[in-house]
Amino acid sequence: MTFLRRLHVFLRGQHHLMAVTIVFGIVFAGAGLIAPLLVRQILVWHAEGTVETGALGIIIAVLVGSFVLRAAGRYGYGAFAHIVAYRAQHLLLVTLNRHIQSLPHRFFENRRTGNLISRAVGDVEAVEDFIAHGIPEATLAATIPTAMVIALGIINWQLMLISLIPMPLIFLLTWFVMPRLRARWGSVRQHMAELTGAVAEGISGFAVVKAFGREPERRAEIDRAGARFRDAIVRTQALTLIPVGVLEIIAGLGLVLIVAVGGNWTLEGIVPVADLFVFVVYLGMIYQPIIQVAAIGEDIQKAIASTDRIFALLDVRSNIVDRPNARPPKNPRWTVQFDQVDFAYDRGAPVLHGVDFTVPEGSLVALVGPTGAGKTTCTSLIPRFYDIDGGAVRISGVDVRDLPIAWLRSNISMVLQDVFLFEGSIWDNIAFGRPEATDAEILAAARAANVDEFAERLPGGYDARVGERGVRLSGGQQQRISIARSILKDAPILILDEATSSVDTETEGLIQESLSQLTKGRTTIVIAHRLSTVRSADLIVGLADGTVAETGSHDELLDQGGWYARMYEIQAGTARWRLGEQQAVQHA
Ligand SMILES: Nc1ncnc2c1ncn2[C@@H]1O[C@H](COP(=O)(O)OP(=O)(O)O)[C@@H](O)[C@H]1O
Ligand SMILES: [Mg+2]
Repeated sequence: MTFLRRLHVFLRGQHHLMAVTIVFGIVFAGAGLIAPLLVRQILVWHAEGTVETGALGIIIAVLVGSFVLRAAGRYGYGAFAHIVAYRAQHLLLVTLNRHIQSLPHRFFENRRTGNLISRAVGDVEAVEDFIAHGIPEATLAATIPTAMVIALGIINWQLMLISLIPMPLIFLLTWFVMPRLRARWGSVRQHMAELTGAVAEGISGFAVVKAFGREPERRAEIDRAGARFRDAIVRTQALTLIPVGVLEIIAGLGLVLIVAVGGNWTLEGIVPVADLFVFVVYLGMIYQPIIQVAAIGEDIQKAIASTDRIFALLDVRSNIVDRPNARPPKNPRWTVQFDQVDFAYDRGAPVLHGVDFTVPEGSLVALVGPTGAGKTTCTSLIPRFYDIDGGAVRISGVDVRDLPIAWLRSNISMVLQDVFLFEGSIWDNIAFGRPEATDAEILAAARAANVDEFAERLPGGYDARVGERGVRLSGGQQQRISIARSILKDAPILILDEATSSVDTETEGLIQESLSQLTKGRTTIVIAHRLSTVRSADLIVGLADGTVAETGSHDELLDQGGWYARMYEIQAGTARWRLGEQQAVQHA
């Protein structure tokens, strides 16, 4: 029952409401016990032939009262159970999402988004269901039969004991079937998560799917995932219904025993007809709450499985956390230093080894090298998106692992290689860089990144919506917004990863101008494919195969005749060729 203990945390502050719920539940169920007792009284009067005038009137009045109580009980019970459940759901949702946000890059890379969403929303709903129905129903299942057994015991304890004979079978049932059900529902939720993942991917990747005409394959994948889910849930459902059936048999068995033994005793005149009547009616009802629990056993098992998955997720601890002694340096100097850094995303497959270079405060260092050399990886180590395996990354001479993460990240502004825009307006996406910025500051950042050039032509201007992930804008426009966002953040360390790769040469020239304004006085690391843009860097670091292959100024690297010199030749050649082509066109 560890899951109940853990779930309990999310019910904090709601114990009084839970109690009210259960009281209403007991009123509801208890009121249902009254009617048979009233009929029994009439039978007793009939047998004894002694009835006072107006007695039937009282019986009817009590009967009416009992049904009013039952109605009120049912309403209150349902209403309060759901208040408790929705509040707990809210708390769970918030806690879970806050937790997911705290998890490191590595965590997200190993999971399908849809799978996570299914946990963050779907599993939480299942838990809500359990709190709203499972907990109160289970309480009733325990209290109602107890109350009935006590009432029957008072009427006739021998008959009561006989009626209890089939009861132990219930425990056998719980013992055997329930654990298996839990495991099965766990796998059903897993299949559901995979299905959600497949559907989500098909939707977010719609453009690629269409461009490659891969709709049939996507359909097939979703068909397969859907079929696996269907088969799993059908199999589980078949097992889930077994307890309900068995309970009906147990209840029937109890009734048969009572009719056999009690009927005999009644015929012999040992037990009054009135008492037999109450036994038969109560036995029809005594298993009802238990059958009810077994019937919602599906929900309960689902909820337990979901709770397990939620808590498994909550148990994932980020390994990238503040060290206990982490504090920001006094008078920081914004030097970034890579000191013999080794790093691997996956154990045994090193990506960086012995990377060693320094970016002095206020200088601009360019990282160049072929695709896959490890440039992006280097930059993601500075804000501690990943922790390294050997050596040190230092800012202001302090190992980044000894700095508070929030402080560290607030002092680094990044234009990421993969632009991500949030559904919303252009304005909102820029303001994301520093939510407390004034309108004038946001506008200035937008101008600097040349966003104004296209924003003003869009219907709605800066209020134009970018679409999910920015689909309504061109790659270059998205990139300019992401540059504006980083300009706005205004941090002392600036990282530009292929910041201008998707803008045309002309726009790049314009942005380059504002970027050079931006980089002035800041410690900047630039990754660029167009080597013409890194010419003026204070230092150029050439990476190859995860290590530093060449360093120096533009002229020094040209002299060295390595990868940089070769690439520069090729690119300069292309530029000359383009120029020649243009002149040829003009001459024609
Ligand atoms: N998240 C990741 N998980 C595993 N491997 C990765 C990840 N990101 C990059 N890599 C690998 O690390 C190497 C360096 O990648 P990257 O730093 O992106 O190169 P660059 O930016 O120089 O093109 C590549 O071989 C790439 O496959
Ligand atoms: Mg890269």
